[in-house]
Amino acid sequence: MFRAEIYRNRRKRLKELVTDGLIVLPGNVDVPMNYADNTYHFRQDSSFLYYFGLDFQGLAGLIDVDGGNDLLFGDDASIEDVIWMGPQVSLQENAARVGVDKTESYSKLFDHIASAIRQGRRIHFLPPYRAENKLLLQELLGIQCSKLKEYSSLELVKAVISMRSIKDSGELNEIRTACGIGYEMHVKAMQMATPGAWEQTIAGTLEGIARAKGSGPSYPIILSQHGEILHNHQHTGYLKEGKLMLVDAGAESLMHYASDFTRTTPVGGKFNQQQREVYEIALAAINHAASKIKAGTTYQSIHLSTAEVIASGLKELGLMKGDVKEAVKNGAHALFFPHGLGHMMGLDVHDMEDLGQIYVGYDDETRPIDQFGTAYLRLGKKLEAGYVLTNEPGIYFIPALIDKWRSEKTNADFINFEKLESYKTFGGIRLEDNLVVTETGCELLGNRVPITPEEIEETINNKG
Ligand code: GLY
Ligand code: MN
Ligand code: MN
Repeated sequence: MFRAEIYRNRRKRLKELVTDGLIVLPGNVDVPMNYADNTYHFRQDSSFLYYFGLDFQGLAGLIDVDGGNDLLFGDDASIEDVIWMGPQVSLQENAARVGVDKTESYSKLFDHIASAIRQGRRIHFLPPYRAENKLLLQELLGIQCSKLKEYSSLELVKAVISMRSIKDSGELNEIRTACGIGYEMHVKAMQMATPGAWEQTIAGTLEGIARAKGSGPSYPIILSQHGEILHNHQHTGYLKEGKLMLVDAGAESLMHYASDFTRTTPVGGKFNQQQREVYEIALAAINHAASKIKAGTTYQSIHLSTAEVIASGLKELGLMKGDVKEAVKNGAHALFFPHGLGHMMGLDVHDMEDLGQIYVGYDDETRPIDQFGTAYLRLGKKLEAGYVLTNEPGIYFIPALIDKWRSEKTNADFINFEKLESYKTFGGIRLEDNLVVTETGCELLGNRVPITPEEIEETINNKG
C-alpha cells in the first residue's frame, strides 16, 4: 500500500469536495463459487482501496464530512480465525497503516448509520455493483436493492471520479509495473504462436505469468484466431498456419492497478500480403491516435480522426469508397471498427465503470454520439494531464455484420461489398497501448510491446 498520509490526504480532499453528511464506503466480501467456504479469488472494491487502502474482507469506511473524522469498521481475528489463517494484525494497526485513528467493530456501523438517519443527515454512497453490498446497503439504509442506484450520491460519484481520474506518481509507477507484466505476457504469447498450439495452453500460460508476477489478469483473457469476435473468451481452438491470433490481455499489479494490451500475431511467424496490408492500417491508426493525444483535446475527436485514418486506408485497399470524411460522418467505418478508441484505466481496467460511464467519459461539453460503433466509445471528453487511457483501434471482418449491411444496403455508397467477400475469413486485428496524458502529448506506459510487423515477426521467430 501507499504511505498513510496518501490515504489521509485523499479522504481530506474528498471531504472538501462533498458538501455535507456522511460517506459510507463498504469494502468487498468473499463471494461463494460453488459453496460458502469455496470462494472466488478475493478482489477488494477499487474506491475502498483508493481511500482506505486495505486489501481484505469485512471492512467498511465511514467519512464524516461535517465532523471531519474517518472511521474504519471491522472485527479483529478470533482464535478460530488464527487457527485457520495464522496470526493476524489488529484492526487498529491496519487502520493506522492507512492513516485512520478510530476503529469500531463491524456491527457498530449499523448504529452509526441508524443514528445519522434519525438526525436527518445526508448519507452518501456509490452505486453498488455486487449483490452482497446491495444487501448490506439495503439493510443499513432501508432502501430497496432495486432503488439503490437511483438513491446513490451523484455528488460523491463526481467527487470520486474527479480524484481517481488524475493519477499521481505512485499510481503511475504501479501501472507501469502492471504494464511490465503485460509486456511479458504478450511476448510469451507471440513466442507460443506456432501452428498446432492450443489456445487454452497459451491463455493459461499468460494467466500464470500474471499470477506469478502480480495479482493476476486484470480481466478475463481474450485470445483467439477469431479476433473479429470482439470479446471472445473461448480458447478452444488450435492455431492454424496463416491465421491471425488476437490477444487482449493485461495484468494487475499487487496493488491492483491494471494494464490492458492487445496485439495481433500471425500464426507461424509471417504476415501474408493481405494481413500485412490491413495490419499497416491498424498500426497507422494507433500511431495517429497517439500523436493526437494531449491535454485539452477531446478523445471523441481523436476517435473520429482515427476512424478517418482507418477509412482512408481501407479506401486505398478498395474496401471502402467515396469521401472519407463523409463516410465517417455516416458511420460507415463502424462496419470495420465497431467499438470505441479506448477508456480510462487505473484501479479498474475500465476505470470507475461502476460509477457510470456517462460521468467518467463525458461531461456537459462532450456528449456521447448515438451512432452504431461510436456509441461504444467509453471516453469522449476533453483529456487532462494525468489521465491514464487505452488507445485501441481495430479492424475486423465480421461476416454476420457484412451480410446484414450488404442485404440492407447500409452505407452502400461507402463500402465495396463485392470485394469484401474475400475477407470474410480474415478475422480481426486490434492493437492496444496504455498511456498517460501530459500537457504537451502523452507518454506510453511501460516499454512498447513489439508492434511493427518486423518487431512481431522477430519476436515470434526469436524465442530467446
Ligand atoms: N480488455 C478489454 C478492453 O480492451 O477494453
Ligand atoms: Mn484490452
Ligand atoms: Mn481496453
